[in-house]
Amino acid sequence: MKKRVLTGIKPTGYAHLGNYFGAIKPAIELSKSEEFESYYFIADYHALTTLKSKEEMQEYFYNIACTWLACGLDPNKVVFYRQSDIPEVFELNWILSNVTPKGLMNRAHAYKAIVERNEAEKQEKDFGVNMGLYNYPILMAADILLFETNLVPVGLDQKQHIEIARDIANSFNKKYGETFVMPDGLIEEEVCTLVGLDGRKMSKSYGNTIQLFTSENVLKKSINRIVTDSRLPGEPKDADCTVNKLYKLFVSAEEAKIFEKKLLDGLSWGEAKKELFEVANRYISPMREKFEYFQAHKNEVDELLRLGAKKARVVAREVLDRVRKAIGV
Ligand code: TRP
Repeated sequence: MKKRVLTGIKPTGYAHLGNYFGAIKPAIELSKSEEFESYYFIADYHALTTLKSKEEMQEYFYNIACTWLACGLDPNKVVFYRQSDIPEVFELNWILSNVTPKGLMNRAHAYKAIVERNEAEKQEKDFGVNMGLYNYPILMAADILLFETNLVPVGLDQKQHIEIARDIANSFNKKYGETFVMPDGLIEEEVCTLVGLDGRKMSKSYGNTIQLFTSENVLKKSINRIVTDSRLPGEPKDADCTVNKLYKLFVSAEEAKIFEKKLLDGLSWGEAKKELFEVANRYISPMREKFEYFQAHKNEVDELLRLGAKKARVVAREVLDRVRKAIGV
C-alpha cells in the first residue's frame, strides 16, 4: 500500500521565498513520487488563532491556495482541500480532547512561550491566551490522525506537534484498542537555513521576507533591501553573503559558480543585486503568471478545493465511523 503523506499550510501571511524553498517545492516534489499518496490542505481553522479579520482570512487563504496551484501542485494527483470543509476533523478534535491530558498542552512550545513572556512582564500567566491557541495541538492531531497519515512533512518548529499527535493517538489506542495509525514527522531541517534580508532565517516574524508573488517592481525593491557590508566596488565580497546564498537557489551549479567568482573578483553590491533580481524574476515569472490566473479565477480554486474535500471526506468518514464505534456511540 502507498504511504500517505499529509501536511497543513496555515494561511497567516503571504507566501515568501522561505516558504517556497523550505516547504512548498519539496512537498510538491514529494507528491510526484509514486510511493506516496499526498493530502495537502489549507489549515484555515488553525489560522483563526492569529488572524485579525475576515478580510485577512480571505486574502491569505487565496494567496496560499493560488500559490500552491501556481507552484505546480496537481489537484488530480494530490488531495488538496480546505480544513474547514471537513466537519469530521472537528468531531474528532472533540473526541481526542478527552484523551489529552491538560498537562500535555501546558508543555506545548507556543503556549509555554506566551506564559514565559507574561511572567517576565509580570502579567497574569494566561494573559492573551484563548482556548483556540491552547487546544491548537489537538486540532492538529485530529488533522493527522483522521487520514491514517504515515508521514507529515513539516519544519522543525512543528516537530513537537507531531510528537503530541503520537501521544494522543497512543492514549486513545490504549484506552479503546488499536484505532489510529502512528504518524512520523518528515522534518525539513533546511527550512531553518534559508536566509532573509537581514541575514537571519527568513521568517514572517522577523519581517525580513521576500514575498514570492508580487510585481517585478516590488521584488526588485525587496532585493535592494538585502543588508550587505560596506565593501566597495572592486573589493572582493564574502562568498557567504546573503546575496550569494539567495542567488544559488535560482540557478544551476554552474551559473552559481560563475556568479560567486564575480563576487570574489569585486562585483559591486548594486550589480550583484541586479543580477540576483534577474535570475529570481526569470525563475518566478512563469509561476507568477499562473498565480495571477488563479487569483482572477477564484471560483476555479473553490471548485478544485471542493472536489478535494469530497475525496478527503470518503477517508475521513470511514476513520471517524471506526472511532465512534470504538468509543461506543
Ligand atoms: N501547525 C502547522 C503550522 O503552523 C499547520 C498545520 C495544521 C499542520 N495542521 C497540520 C501541519 C497537520 C501538518 C499536519 O505550520
